[in-house]
Amino acid sequence: MKEIKIFSPGTIANVSCGFDTLGCCLDTIGDEMIIRKTDKKGVHITKITGDDLPYETRKNVAGVAALALLEKYDQALDFGFEIEIFKNIKPGSGIGSSAASAAGAVFGINKLLNEPFTAQELILFASKGEELVSNYPIADNVAPALLGGFTLVKGYDPLKILKLPVMDDLYVTILHPQIEIKTAESRAILPEKVNLKDAVKQWANVGALVHALHTEDYNLFGSSLHDLIVEPYRSQFIPGFDQVVKTAKNSGALGSGISGSGPSIFSFCKGMQQAEAVKNIINEIYKKTGIPFHIYVSKINRKGIRII
Ligand code: HSE
Repeated sequence: MKEIKIFSPGTIANVSCGFDTLGCCLDTIGDEMIIRKTDKKGVHITKITGDDLPYETRKNVAGVAALALLEKYDQALDFGFEIEIFKNIKPGSGIGSSAASAAGAVFGINKLLNEPFTAQELILFASKGEELVSNYPIADNVAPALLGGFTLVKGYDPLKILKLPVMDDLYVTILHPQIEIKTAESRAILPEKVNLKDAVKQWANVGALVHALHTEDYNLFGSSLHDLIVEPYRSQFIPGFDQVVKTAKNSGALGSGISGSGPSIFSFCKGMQQAEAVKNIINEIYKKTGIPFHIYVSKINRKGIRII
């Protein structure tokens, strides 16, 4: 194989209670990428559409992730790789834009090399790309992009990812206000220490959410979608956040929260019809803010990145 074209999906990191640990994969939102072998050695980003991102390999998350992979490849290569990125996920949206590029690059190169690396290793390489934009090799977006479904980062040192079950009828409505929030900046405002009582509630919710996925308990899943630690700091930068969360809840959503580091807001729902109804209501109320936005409904993507 000389060339591969892929769909690299958007993701929701944190899923409210699991800051830097939980994530899930989206189905209808994502970038496309082409990765091809070339005679020219090294990694070269040759095309980017949809956004104004750096072409320089070491300044682009896809390039950094690709280089992290090649550093660990123990055979000499007499060829290199060219990467084309067709962005649909806006950087600074909170739906895993950089992760889609980083994960897509390592997925594609691994395929072209006949899959020398495991999925866990690919997640580690992709997290090096994430480090470029967040100052930390976060894996909660790249893990679900590569594995699909829900994932939990069990540990960062060494990196260990668990794949969690997906409930069949789980859909999500995503509101993306067209403002950019840089991950590094939205991490810089977070406190270094947390209140013990809040921490108790938070880890109880993470445990309950994981249990809910295993037992297909939609109500328990919804009641676990609370973030007492990070959301209070970040939600103030998202216009209309409280109203969107309240409206979604009153319209039948299981629960809502900030997607990744924002500004997107997710609302999980049981069934597509419910998710579409929540979408229509949020659409109506958000128009009143005057802020341009996109709104989507997605099923949970069980497979992650796919070849197209
Ligand atoms: N867990 C990360 C954060 C997700 O919330 O900052 C963004 O990569």
